[in-house]
Amino acid sequence: MENSKLTSPQQGCWYPARILRNVIAFHRHFQPQDHDIILASRPKSGTTWLKALIFSIANRSRFTNSSNPSPLLTKNPHELIPFIEFTLYGQKELPNLTSIQSPRLFSTHIPYLSLPVSIKECDYNIRIVYICRNPFDVVVSSWHFAAQARNSLERPMEDLVDNFCRGIESFGSFWDHVLGYWKASLENPKKVLFLKYEDLKEDTNFHHLKKLAEFIGFPFSMEEEKEGVIEEISKLCSLSSLRELEVNKTGKFMPNFENKCYFRKGEVGDWVNYLNPSMVERMEKVIAEKLEGSGLTF
Ligand code: A3P
Repeated sequence: MENSKLTSPQQGCWYPARILRNVIAFHRHFQPQDHDIILASRPKSGTTWLKALIFSIANRSRFTNSSNPSPLLTKNPHELIPFIEFTLYGQKELPNLTSIQSPRLFSTHIPYLSLPVSIKECDYNIRIVYICRNPFDVVVSSWHFAAQARNSLERPMEDLVDNFCRGIESFGSFWDHVLGYWKASLENPKKVLFLKYEDLKEDTNFHHLKKLAEFIGFPFSMEEEKEGVIEEISKLCSLSSLRELEVNKTGKFMPNFENKCYFRKGEVGDWVNYLNPSMVERMEKVIAEKLEGSGLTF
């Protein structure tokens, strides 16, 4: 999102102007339900991947074979787990969310601080899964996304790094975003699970996938583990599988965003090819300062 499109801070956070109204509607009207699962992230941190994984884990008993295949094969993950602030509350009418089958799956880029109190303080059994990614790859991924989605490469990387370091970014500064969910996960580990993109990438023995499944209330049984169900889900949701699906090559899930923009390299450390030493030094300094004492490292 470009600076010019950001609007004034709402609860200490910047939003793209076009969605502020949706965020307010969400605050006013959202009614949590038992078993709701909310996926939270900053843009470009692995949201699409986590949507595919959560959808597949939570619905694995419904879509079991070729006569009843996973909708992930024909729909983009963003269609299966809608964004609260773009999709659900971006419509002309308020959405009717009461008829959605439980567990309802939603996603958001809204920072923890700005989530409605109805979600944070309710007694319902709500699960929030947060995914974060090292900030260098996030900046580089955002740069590519902006260029691809808007069909231009005109924005210098220096601008993105500068905005990052000044905390002028959609949905708030990197550090406020990650620290909000990080602290919530420490204070209330049964409600908030904090995941790292890099850990999921290295998840050779499926430790993190199993933890995720357990957290959202759909643990894998020993039998499933033996039958290779976890492996199948991991494969189905991999970048290489999703990217090759027709829907993700040619489809769109919002008027301005082609599905293919959500699948690029998915590499850890790709930033070395794009950030120069002075950008890295500047970002490192800010990150060290802002995350100091939190126990969170990248
Ligand atoms: P890169 O631009 O580094 O390739 P988001 O989904 O939050 O918008 O994040 C997009 C980033 O996640 C992109 O990173 C994209 O390639 C990567 N990604 C998308 N699907 C993925 C998957 N199934 N596995 C791993 N990474 C994925």
